Amino acid sequence: MPTAWAQGADIGAGKSGGKAAMCIGCHGIPGYKVAYPHVYHVPYIAGQNVKYLELALKAYQSGERKHPTMRSIAAGLSDKDISELAAYYGNAQKGGAK
Ligand code: HEC
Repeated sequence: MPTAWAQGADIGAGKSGGKAAMCIGCHGIPGYKVAYPHVYHVPYIAGQNVKYLELALKAYQSGERKHPTMRSIAAGLSDKDISELAAYYGNAQKGGAK
């Protein structure tokens, strides 16, 4: 049976849209908490100030902010990803109108 499709799969995950998708599981729900490894309150970032989001992500990246999950996520982001994600969350998700 053909199995090659499972190998070279390109699902477009490199785009910033794809990157934002990996944040939504935690950040998309107001008042959401994650229970691993401790119970954390997950801040709702949509509609936050763009500059604030950018600085927060850079602070996780540099280690200035210490949350382990966000540190490993920020470590995988480039400066460009960070400014795109900050712009995306700061503007695009405010509930539509802007
Ligand atoms: C596994 C769950 C999880 C995922 C996935 C995740 N985050 Fe977070 N994020 C958190 C938690 C928990 C905090 C609060 C950490 C703290 O207390 O410092 C946080 C904090 C933040 C903050 C700081 C918010 C504030 O008000 O200070 C930003 C910005 C942020 N995340 C952006 C992102 C972006 C962008 C992505 C995707 C690239 C992402 N996060 C993916 C759980 C997650």
